[in-house]
Amino acid sequence: MNNLKFVNIEQLLEKIGHIEFSPLTIFKASSITLCGVGLVYLSRIWFSYRFFKKRGLKSPKHEFFYGNFRQIHKNKNYSEMLREWTKEFGKTYGYFEGHLPVIVTSDLEFIQEVFIKQSTNFSARKKGFLSRKDDDPNSDLFQSTKGRWKRMRMIMNPTFSSAKLRELGPILVNCADRLIDVLNKEGDAEINVSEYFKRFTMDSIWNCAFGVDINMQYDKENLYLKNCEQFFKVTSNLMLPHYLGLYFHEFKEKIVFFLIIMTLVRSKFVDLDKLSPYFWLKTKIKDLVNKRLFEKESRKRDYIQLLLEACGELNSERFSKNTEFKKSLSAIEVENNLILFMLAGFDTTSTTLGLSCYVLSINSDEQLRLYDEISAVFGTDINSINYDSVQQFKYLDWFIKEVLRHYPVGNSIVARRCTKKTTIKGIDIPVDTPIAVDVMSIHFDADLWGPQDPNEFYPPRHEVKRNPLAFMAFGNGPRNCIGMKFALIELKIALVKLIMNFEFLSLKSDINDLELEEGVVRYIKNGSKVFIKKRFFP
Ligand code: HEM
Ligand SMILES: *[C@@H]1O[C@H](CO)[C@@H](O)[C@H](O)[C@H]1NC(C)=O
Ligand SMILES: *[C@@H]1O[C@H](CO)[C@@H](O)[C@H](O)[C@H]1NC(C)=O
Ligand SMILES: *[C@@H]1O[C@H](CO)[C@@H](O)[C@H](O)[C@H]1NC(C)=O
Ligand SMILES: *[C@@H]1O[C@H](CO)[C@@H](O)[C@H](O)[C@H]1NC(C)=O
Repeated sequence: MNNLKFVNIEQLLEKIGHIEFSPLTIFKASSITLCGVGLVYLSRIWFSYRFFKKRGLKSPKHEFFYGNFRQIHKNKNYSEMLREWTKEFGKTYGYFEGHLPVIVTSDLEFIQEVFIKQSTNFSARKKGFLSRKDDDPNSDLFQSTKGRWKRMRMIMNPTFSSAKLRELGPILVNCADRLIDVLNKEGDAEINVSEYFKRFTMDSIWNCAFGVDINMQYDKENLYLKNCEQFFKVTSNLMLPHYLGLYFHEFKEKIVFFLIIMTLVRSKFVDLDKLSPYFWLKTKIKDLVNKRLFEKESRKRDYIQLLLEACGELNSERFSKNTEFKKSLSAIEVENNLILFMLAGFDTTSTTLGLSCYVLSINSDEQLRLYDEISAVFGTDINSINYDSVQQFKYLDWFIKEVLRHYPVGNSIVARRCTKKTTIKGIDIPVDTPIAVDVMSIHFDADLWGPQDPNEFYPPRHEVKRNPLAFMAFGNGPRNCIGMKFALIELKIALVKLIMNFEFLSLKSDINDLELEEGVVRYIKNGSKVFIKKRFFP
């Protein structure tokens, strides 16, 4: 039997040997192969487009190859688009990113299953346009999946406890004082507050995460600031590789692999630090972490230190099968997660602050109410504010939540990816299917947020206990925003200082006048322009 096969192959080789490999033959053969592969791929695309029909789900009309992505991308209003579709197709439907089917839902029962009850079956995020392999050892908390995510999250959760955040309080107060100082120099004027808030959140992050105190708020040309801003521009613009990853989603990981190889090759010829702000940042952070590793018992209480010292208090039995399980983060994991904190905490928080000021400027009643609440406690002496004292302001808490209900900024990341085939409400979900939440439909649902009209800006609605899934600004379930408490404290400290020092005025009068644009996060088009007027104390 074996012999026979052998002979056959030999004969075959002989035959092949007789074929003449003229350029024309090679050309013909390769075009036929290419056509074949192309046809297989085309039929695959064609087959993908039957995903929703097979499951009895509705979906908006799509273009072949592009799916619905051009509709979403052209207008840069993903959140509004989903909401519009929900009105047309109901609470659960689907759309196509290229030929990748994405299930969209604003059905709280569905979300309860995906985000909470079956969270272990959905233990990955929806992939970006480019993504690394699942369980790549270089992935950070945001990108990682399954056991790797679980381990990191358990180690990192305690670093965001109230006790740890209290220690960061004075740093945040200090940064807020600088913000006030800088704004004071502008005097009474109409200014683009977004610019100042960006520098404030960046200053806060460099101080809290890296223990680096540089002149970021005063010096507009600061090198750290410049490089970080550049980095954000690069990460938020879609470029050719992103489009390739988007429309040929089966090859996302291969494209990333190729990009990494290209970078390695380029690093032989050019100094990468100078080439890309990402490498500049990465080198900087690596140095900071390394320095700290050799420094015994640093007194600094920043996130480098917290993460290096963090040690999961886990039931190791559950993980004993996994030999790679470690209770603490490696130096590389600390570096990657620090970069993540900067990415995740910078645009989101500064935009929320910009939105808050915009709302204050067109809403003098809210401003007065907050001013009264704060001055009733502090009088006019706000030098004594700290982590604990800003937490007592109930109305301020409602106000921030109402800003984030009305203008949720992180909608596109409130999504999961199926990691174990399962069924949700009778719909079978194959592995790798992304489930995206239509946050806007939930936040403006009168049944969830009534009786006051959800289109109205009305902070007291947060006094009533609501369904916990009705507020999605920080996501939900075990994989919600890990920085939520940090962000809320930062926002509260900044807003208390701002409200006590300035009055915000506007020429506009309607809350719906604001134009938002959306990439990974939503931001205010052209920034938030308000007139600031110094308050004078008698
Ligand atoms: C107003 C400010 C912020 C908003 C609106 C916001 C929003 C969000 C949202 C919607 C998610 C996805 C949650 C989900 O999928 O269920 C998220 C995840 C995350 N956020 Fe935030 N965020 C903010 C500030 C921050 C800050 C300051 C940090 C860092 C210190 C941070 C770090 C993270 C991380 C690490 C994740 C991923 C968690 C995981 O996958 O386990 N965020 N954020
Ligand atoms: C999205 O934005 C475009 C242009 O900016 C606008 O014409 C369209 O109506 C918007 N779509 C929704 C659903 O708001
Ligand atoms: C206001 O500041 C933001 C943030 O730096 C910027 O993106 C925007 O272009 C600025 N707007 C104007 C009108 O300069
Ligand atoms: C995950 O999905 C499986 C079906 O594949 C199901 O039996 C199991 O109950 C789900 N897990 C949870 C926690 O619901
Ligand atoms: C934003 O700026 C552009 C050009 O600077 C202008 O055409 C547009 O009207 C502005 N939009 C808003 C909402 O101010």
